[in-house]
Amino acid sequence: MNSILVTGGAGFLGSFLVDLLITEGYRVVVVDSLEFQVHGGRQPAYLNPGATYVWGDCSDRNLIRPILETVDAVVHLAALVGVGQSMYEIERYTHGNCDVTAVLLEEVVRVRARIRKLVVASSMSIYGEGSYVDADGNSVYPGLRSDEQLKRHEWEVRHPISGQPLQPAPTAEERPLASASVYAASKRYQEELGLMIGRTYDIPSVACRLFNAYGSRQSLANPYTGVAAIFCSRLLQGLAPVVFEDGNQLRDFVHAEDVARALHLCLTSPAADHQVFNIASGHPITVRDVARHLSRAVCGREVEPEARGQFRSGDIRHCIADISKARRLLGYSPEHQFENGLLELVSWIRHQQPGADRLEAALAEGRGHGVISG
Ligand SMILES: NC(=O)c1ccc[n+]([C@@H]2O[C@H](COP(=O)([O-])OP(=O)(O)OC[C@H]3O[C@@H](n4cnc5c(N)ncnc54)[C@H](O)[C@@H]3O)[C@@H](O)[C@H]2O)c1
Repeated sequence: MNSILVTGGAGFLGSFLVDLLITEGYRVVVVDSLEFQVHGGRQPAYLNPGATYVWGDCSDRNLIRPILETVDAVVHLAALVGVGQSMYEIERYTHGNCDVTAVLLEEVVRVRARIRKLVVASSMSIYGEGSYVDADGNSVYPGLRSDEQLKRHEWEVRHPISGQPLQPAPTAEERPLASASVYAASKRYQEELGLMIGRTYDIPSVACRLFNAYGSRQSLANPYTGVAAIFCSRLLQGLAPVVFEDGNQLRDFVHAEDVARALHLCLTSPAADHQVFNIASGHPITVRDVARHLSRAVCGREVEPEARGQFRSGDIRHCIADISKARRLLGYSPEHQFENGLLELVSWIRHQQPGADRLEAALAEGRGHGVISG
């Protein structure tokens, strides 16, 4: 395998993968539509001069067909990324993530004899609420909290039958899936379609369920995604980060370079074929602690995040990753420590021009559409 197509390769995660693949000696072709919401109408400054960039939609058959005839593997990262926004831009997200993937896969099938690996970026969002254990240590996969519960500001998840408190537990790949947003449903579709087409046409295929990625290069123009970048932009403008609920939601933040390493392992490892993997750091952290760490890095002191009691309908409380399968089958081992990764993020953002804070407008938009309350 020496020639790889990366769709969405000008984006945040794609750019780190492209850098790694170029360093490893691959020929890399990127197809990217330079989504305005992500790139603000400009080519990003971090593009790797060693890669070939083709600007356009990866579902444009005339564009993609000749490229697919020259590559041996495809990493499909192109997607519209924004959980809350997807709940009111339903057609846009369904088209941008599902239809686009369907066309791309039809074209991959045409050249299947030469394609030695298909890697699809899936998402932890397809689990819905994370995994839990009850007081006796039994696994519980609760559904979403009701809006009535959230309006009472009772944030924690309770046992669906006994009502007893539950403890968050690492979420493993085999647990049931329960998408809670249009974005999540579209990522599940991408994952299932990729694996199904791979099995049917004997194309080794892999889906990576990525947890919350962070790092430099995350779009500062897109207020709908990337909590670390959103917090950082606010802090640099002298504003406190805003957290939903009470900010004590647990998540797993994985550095973009660790994601790139995992995607590369999926490309090269036969053990990855026809599998799904959680890709995360394995270290849970609350959203509030992310804000605290960032404020120390940006301001040299802790800035208390604003918890306005706002919540998103259908939001999950905790989701933390079990990465033992990726460790065992891929030899994946995350290298970045969160605190150090944040320092690098802050130093990068200081050299950008984040522009006006768009968070308040995005929050107002979500409230207007009825997906943010409180
Ligand atoms: N960043 C995260 O925390 C995270 C978590 C889970 C899953 N993911 C998935 O990882 C992938 C990359 O995410 P990211 O954070 O780098 O997002 P990003 O928005 O920075 O990058 C996506 C890139 O895809 C491009 N794109 C979108 N639609 C396209 C199309 N039809 N044709 C060609 N290019 C197109 C965009 O211009 C952008 O450059 C996505 O599939 C996303 O769903 C990301």
